[in-house]
Amino acid sequence: MKRVIAVVGCVLFGVPWAWAESGKAVIQATAEGSSVSGDAALTETPDGLKMTVRVSNVPPGKHGLHIHQFGNCADQGNAAGGHYNPHGVAHGFLPSDGFAGAHAGDFGNIEVGADGTGMLELTLPDLRLGGASNTVGGRAIVLHEKEDDFGQPTGNAGGRIGCGVITITGS
Ligand code: CU
Ligand code: ZN
Repeated sequence: MKRVIAVVGCVLFGVPWAWAESGKAVIQATAEGSSVSGDAALTETPDGLKMTVRVSNVPPGKHGLHIHQFGNCADQGNAAGGHYNPHGVAHGFLPSDGFAGAHAGDFGNIEVGADGTGMLELTLPDLRLGGASNTVGGRAIVLHEKEDDFGQPTGNAGGRIGCGVITITGS
C-alpha cells in the first residue's frame, strides 16, 4: 500500500525516477608505489546507466577502461578476471556496438591530459547496477596501462594500473 501511494505521489508531483539505484567505485593503484587514483559514480536513469569516471595521477594519453567480471582487485587487478561478457560475444565498444558486438563493460578509453587527470562520462542503455542481467554492481572497473585499440580478444590495453569494485550505495 505504501508503494502504491508513493507511485501515485510520483505521478502527481512529477518525480521522474523514484527508485533509481546509484553506486560508486573507488579506483586505486594496483602496484605498490603507484599513485593512480580515481572514482566512478553510477546512477540508473530512464535512459540507462549513467557513469562518470574520474582518474588522477595517470600517464597522459588514452587508457582502456572496462568492467571486469569479478569484484576483486587483488594480484595487480588480475583477480578481477576477464571482461564482463554476459552474452559471450567479441570485444568492442559498447556505446556504438551494443550488447551484440561488445562486452557489457567495454567503455573504450579514458583520455588523460598533461595534468594526469581524465574524465569519462557515458550513459549506457540496458546496463544496470542490480538485477538479473547486464549487472555491473559488485564487479570491478579496471583502468589499463595502454589504449584499447578494439583489437581481439580484449583490446590490447596491457596491464591493469587502476581498479575499483562497484558498490551499490542505494537510491
Ligand atoms: Cu580491461
Ligand atoms: Zn571487452
